[in-house]
Amino acid sequence: MSKNSSSTSQGSLTCGLDHAAKENVPTTIVVFGASGDLAKKKTFPALFHLFQRGLLPKRLRIIGYARTHMSPEEFHKRATSHFNADISQDQIKSFLQHCCYVSGKYDISDDFKKLRKEIESQEQALECSQSSNRIRVYYMALPPSVFVDVATQIKHNVYDSDCINRVVIEKPFGHDLESSRKLSNDIGALFTESEIFRIDHYLGKEMVKNIVTLRFANVFYEAVWNRHYIANVQITFKEPFGTEGRGGYFDEFGIIRDVMQNHLLQVLSIVAMNQPNSLSAEDVRDRKTEVLRRILPIQLEDTLLGQYVANADGTKPGYKDDDTVPKDSITPTFAQCVLHVDNDRWRGVPWVIKAGKALNEAKMLIRIQYKDMPNSLFPNLARNELVIQVSPKESMYIKTIVKEPGLSTNLAMSELDLTYKTRYHDVKIPDAYATLILDVLNGDHSNFVRSDELDEAWRIFTPLLHQIEQEHIVPTPYAYGSRGPEGAYQWTEDRVGYKRT
Ligand code: NDP
Ligand code: BG6
Repeated sequence: MSKNSSSTSQGSLTCGLDHAAKENVPTTIVVFGASGDLAKKKTFPALFHLFQRGLLPKRLRIIGYARTHMSPEEFHKRATSHFNADISQDQIKSFLQHCCYVSGKYDISDDFKKLRKEIESQEQALECSQSSNRIRVYYMALPPSVFVDVATQIKHNVYDSDCINRVVIEKPFGHDLESSRKLSNDIGALFTESEIFRIDHYLGKEMVKNIVTLRFANVFYEAVWNRHYIANVQITFKEPFGTEGRGGYFDEFGIIRDVMQNHLLQVLSIVAMNQPNSLSAEDVRDRKTEVLRRILPIQLEDTLLGQYVANADGTKPGYKDDDTVPKDSITPTFAQCVLHVDNDRWRGVPWVIKAGKALNEAKMLIRIQYKDMPNSLFPNLARNELVIQVSPKESMYIKTIVKEPGLSTNLAMSELDLTYKTRYHDVKIPDAYATLILDVLNGDHSNFVRSDELDEAWRIFTPLLHQIEQEHIVPTPYAYGSRGPEGAYQWTEDRVGYKRT
């Protein structure tokens, strides 16, 4: 593989998942923000998951970096604090042999020079310091306010043009179109697009990754995947907890920036895209970007906003009861919008994207509702639906009308059901972060957001976000643990003609 190159995704399927591991490419992974929440909950557990399965190269160093002073023991304790309880101490010990910690600030050159020395001495120990076949991954598990500082320091004090360098950036990528462009320009001035991996962890989820296969490997799905057969599509994200502990971050962003502009729009673009020319990262991302280009900016009148309040018995707090949230906050914690993809495949089909915190359940699903059966033998038929549940229960089912079993001639709604836990009970579905880190090691960009996709995503949402803020639009209250603002379901039915099945 050439330096800083980008391979194909299903590259990973056909060439094997463990390209970097098989080739035993000497690899250093630096986790910036190693003292933080994401690092302990997601990044280190994902690295361990890969390590345990032999999917990381043997010649591996993982270096945590953050401002907090931690002894090696304290770092080890924090890094492993979210590992599954059933993992043996021996396995953890063997993983930790590859890990160390460097403390430093995010804007001090000398601290980054110290980091470079650490990397170089580790590379010497791995006997690869002169080789160009080395990978350095810089993973920014950091607040966006320090992305550019850290990227600048990496480029000036750590980057080694003689090896492969990859920079992983967490969302949020900007606040609106303008700030996102500035961030892209600032980071783009330091690293090439092929060196940058913008994570949207929804792209690493099993059922999201499955959409391309489902659509383009099965003749009967693709044949009816268009406006002639599909009446409406809903992409829904529901969480049963509020912003507890993250109010400070959340209030600046709100649910539209936190979940819709990225996760839900990414999913939409995969569901809506035309078949790519190949499974290469660029071909797939070209097709996704084409879809985004055909979506007009979302209008306020096509949007419903909500904010949760305490539940009736007061056992669950309201959004503004959080000390880190201003008492007069109008930040939405719930939103649903209707949008349209104006191309030949989708013209006239409404898409509803909906996301909310502190709702009645945890669920992320894609619901594709088919049109009424034309010229049916049977009166008043319910509509077919294909439902893909991304989480918590990976599954897909097709709501199908059958004859009621037995002597009856009545019709009944049933499901053709593929629930992963039942069908693939021996397979442990990896966390999205494990999948994506593996992609980074393999240089596969397919499941990462390209800068033009990002630009389009902000173009779609920025006018709405600005209008909400400038006109001080007050969200409708809904109780913690409810199904959202009253009338939200009826709103969808009225606006897009969704028919309950
Ligand atoms: P944290 O607030 O935990 O920050 C990570 C680390 O960055 C902290 O441990 C701290 O380390 C340092 N830090 C925090 N605030 C500042 C600051 N103002 N200036 C400089 N350094 C600071 O963030 P998360 O780990 O929750 O998130 C990291 C990134 O990942 C963010 O971009 C977030 O949006 C994204 N993300 C997080 C998810 C999560 O579940 N937490 C999910 C998806 C994305 P120290 O003081 O030791 O240097
Ligand atoms: C993150 C959001 O990107 O995604 C969080 O910042 C949200 O607010 C999370 O809770 C949801 O991810 P998952 O994988 O738990 O569905």
